[in-house]
Amino acid sequence: MRPIGVFDSGVGGLTVVRALRRRLPAEAVLYLGDTARLPYGTKSPETVARYTQRNVDLLLERGVKGVVVACNTASAVALPRLASPVPVWGVIEPGARRAAAASAGRVGVVGTESTIRSDAYGEALRRLRPGLEVASEACPLFVPLVEEGWLDDPVTERVAERYLAPLVARGIDTLVLGCTHYPLLAPLLTRLLGPGVGLVDSGEAVAEQLAGDLARAGLLASGRRGEDHFLVTDAAERFGQLAGRILGGAVSLELVEVI
Ligand code: DGL
Repeated sequence: MRPIGVFDSGVGGLTVVRALRRRLPAEAVLYLGDTARLPYGTKSPETVARYTQRNVDLLLERGVKGVVVACNTASAVALPRLASPVPVWGVIEPGARRAAAASAGRVGVVGTESTIRSDAYGEALRRLRPGLEVASEACPLFVPLVEEGWLDDPVTERVAERYLAPLVARGIDTLVLGCTHYPLLAPLLTRLLGPGVGLVDSGEAVAEQLAGDLARAGLLASGRRGEDHFLVTDAAERFGQLAGRILGGAVSLELVEVI
């Protein structure tokens, strides 16, 4: 059975691979992390759309049966313009659907500058549930803090308190983790927000959606799990270390060029 392609700007999409492995253990993943051009979260929509199309094309050349755009920034700004002969799933719609269903009425969204500026989550949430109050906050320092491994550090805690303060003031009851890296901060964010605020992991939401869609299309893998394989455009050694930390084991890595 052909693998599921998963694309991200770098290492963060491994949280989506983790969610896919849990929900769809028989599936094999072919992952592409565009580590040479990370971060996407500060780039223009045009540039992110161009990079995303090239990366998806490479996964298609390798014969994937569908593509998950794990990167929230790419999902927010590039998905509507993407051309692909196989199904493509972004993380915005599944994450928004889960949050709209779970919320008592006030949803907070955190993400990169580009994701928040696009208001893709806000638009999807208001379309799915008109009248829902949505408060958004860009948290650009979270990505480097996570990549540094400071997941439960006093510095990260101070930064998070500052980013979350306006959302807490708005009385949110649900928080969408609108960036690949943020699920790794979930324990810290839960501690700061308290039990009254539910967290929505868009990676878990897209894994759930995939399970249903692949089953309906007769595309589910069965039997023994195929081997996952990871392509990166730069810094393979660093990617391998972070992958080990996120997925809990060594990964099969290949350096590729995407022009
Ligand atoms: N993968 C990106 C996202 O989910 C975060 C890292 C980046 O800025 O490239 O938005």
